[in-house]
Amino acid sequence: MTLSGKQIVVGVAGGIAAYKAVELVRELGRRGASVRVVMTQAATRFVGAVTFTGITGRPPVIDLWDPAYAGEVHVELASWAHAIVVAPATANVLARSAAGMADDALLATVLCAACPVLYAPAMFHRMWGSASTARNVTQLRADGAHFVGPVSGALANGEIGMGRLAEPSDIADALDALLAPSLDLEGRTVLVSAGPTHEDLDPVRFLGNKSSGKMGFALAERAAARGARVCLVAGPVALPTPAGVERVDVRSAREMDAALEARFDDADVLVMSAAVADYRPETTSAEKLKKAEDREALVLRLVQNPDILAALGARRGERRRPLLVGFALETQDLLANARAKLAKKRADLIVANHAMDGLGTDENVATLVSAEGEEALGRLTKRALADAILDRVVARLAQP
Ligand code: CTP
Repeated sequence: MTLSGKQIVVGVAGGIAAYKAVELVRELGRRGASVRVVMTQAATRFVGAVTFTGITGRPPVIDLWDPAYAGEVHVELASWAHAIVVAPATANVLARSAAGMADDALLATVLCAACPVLYAPAMFHRMWGSASTARNVTQLRADGAHFVGPVSGALANGEIGMGRLAEPSDIADALDALLAPSLDLEGRTVLVSAGPTHEDLDPVRFLGNKSSGKMGFALAERAAARGARVCLVAGPVALPTPAGVERVDVRSAREMDAALEARFDDADVLVMSAAVADYRPETTSAEKLKKAEDREALVLRLVQNPDILAALGARRGERRRPLLVGFALETQDLLANARAKLAKKRADLIVANHAMDGLGTDENVATLVSAEGEEALGRLTKRALADAILDRVVARLAQP
């Protein structure tokens, strides 16, 4: 049974197709999943709560204020779930969900999700085709949600159009695919650099930058989840090490260079997401630098750090491995600069982004630049961007 041991929350919204949620719950049960149901008030007008009690063995959650719940039922449900599927997802639920609302048990559970969320929309074809629904779906996708359907066919009023709920077995298949780990990087070794570097001036001062390390940590986490052996060379950041990842902490650009050099030949892929300092102080004082009353200005002399990616690109020469992915963080002429870095550093792929889009936040707006051209990805969570980058890596590794 493909969903054996999986815990699924089925969210039922108020549309005619709500009756098909009964068949979905039964199908998930047949595939071995434990299912709990959360319904909107509107859904109870289309299908009886007792029906779900009968087939899941416990009453569906409908009312956040029901005194029968000991604690916060939406938190408990969302924490229990390995996946949440909203079927049918009405136009109204998609809109409220895209806006981050939590004004009923279903929406509050979805907002609490720490697991994949799958929407199976169903509505009249003009509602599905409306600009606002399209906008909401785009937003939810960008937030990391998944969709199955709707499909085209006869709608409740007899008209034919796009808006029918996907078949319950197809929704179950989509869940299956979502929960089955895709191990497309199994057997590969992925080297990731992340975070800033700190270039010491004296024992208490350094030159640094605003990189949070979140992008590189998301890349390491997703590569490990997709089956790769991952080594994460991290500059000074206070982020937890992702599961299954070997972490090497470094401080300066030269330390990062040494750590990556030593591991480069064993890697299938190097992703340079670190914001490496281009310059370091020419000297690092062993003692704290003192303020001199008679000195108005202090002039620091900086010397260049190694360009790690360019050096490794040169070392790789005509070989095609390790695959080299670099980043270009720019404040102007984004794509021209990214293309120049692609050539200069002999990289296979450059992830280009504006400094104001991604620094320190959980999202980023990126364009992928390679010899084949440019691909704008729009605004994505760093986790989703990590997966999009790794998708391209997997495709390139498959080439001879
Ligand atoms: N990089 C590197 N070593 C450096 C500087 C950058 O390996 N000393 C890598 C970064 O990790 C990134 C890519 O090169 O993958 C581009 O970094 P970026 O700072 O945008 O480019 P620079 O080459 O430093 O150019 P500039 O700062 O002039 O834009």
